[in-house]
Amino acid sequence: MILKIPTPSNQKRNQSIAVLTSGGDAPGMNAAVRSVVRYGLAHGCKMYGVMKGFRGLLDGHITRLEASSVANVIQRGGTILKTDRCKEFYKKSARKRAAEVLISYGIEGLVVIGGDGSFTGAGLLEKETGFPTIGVPGTIDNDIFATDDTIGFDTAVNTAVEAIDRIRDTASSHDRIFLVEVMGRSSGFIAIMVGIAGGAETVIIPEIKQPVSAVCNTIDRGIKRGKSSSIIVVAEGPKPGLSYRIANDLSKRGYSSKVCILGHTQRGGSPTAHDRLLASALGASAVAYLLAGKSDAMVGMQKGHIVLVPFKNVIGRKRLLPNEILELAQILAI
Ligand code: F6P
Repeated sequence: MILKIPTPSNQKRNQSIAVLTSGGDAPGMNAAVRSVVRYGLAHGCKMYGVMKGFRGLLDGHITRLEASSVANVIQRGGTILKTDRCKEFYKKSARKRAAEVLISYGIEGLVVIGGDGSFTGAGLLEKETGFPTIGVPGTIDNDIFATDDTIGFDTAVNTAVEAIDRIRDTASSHDRIFLVEVMGRSSGFIAIMVGIAGGAETVIIPEIKQPVSAVCNTIDRGIKRGKSSSIIVVAEGPKPGLSYRIANDLSKRGYSSKVCILGHTQRGGSPTAHDRLLASALGASAVAYLLAGKSDAMVGMQKGHIVLVPFKNVIGRKRLLPNEILELAQILAI
């Protein structure tokens, strides 16, 4: 990752900028908030924090943030600004009210740290009211289009791999098959990376339909080669608990297995150095672009460089798993 923050020549100073975190929290969000605040203060700005995502805009729950407000948070998981999935913000009238609240505080730009749903809200806010917004990708799922990385993904993968290493110990002691379920509602990014890094025998992801018979064949191949235990990583898909259904199907075919759902443990914990660096780079860049009059866009990371991508090229688009990663997972699992 190249930590080169954009310095557009026409950058203004002394603006009033607010930041909020929205949607599912992700480790590193605090590092991003800290970076937004301190970069803004360094450029003479007044900085504000909106509590509980878009909800806080509607409730006028907004506070001034100084350098000390974001002290001692870079290592903390969760988000000090709290977060919410605000259903009311789906309404146009709510977005109009949000812009009015921001203007009443003298705020001139908004940084939204979150995922695709949060960017949808931010994009509509700007489109309908003209209020400048900029998005910072923060989600453990790494499923946002046009950025190679999202804040929290690296930490979530590390958390899950650590758990798998532990599960492997007991799996091999008891000669057991384990289904380890990781997060990823509509994306197998976490599962595939965890599968590769954790040495899983197979990975079940929403992107690729895999019949139970194929899972059984993989287990059998392993047994023939002398393996006495197997780790199968399962992406949760639309509803957590998919692993129990797979375990049931396996049992009908004579394979006994154990299930471990990692769930929200993957969303918590201290962010890795990688996520802290990514968050620091993206947070500062978001403010740099806002001060240069750029908005209606997301800051992202492409091939190690910070990029600015219009919301219309990001929102609602599915980031596909690269084929090379899928192939590598298959080759290494043999
Ligand atoms: O943050 C993304 C994500 O972790 C998904 O992988 C998961 O399905 C979802 O959020 C669950 O979030 P919540 O329990 O907050 O609705």
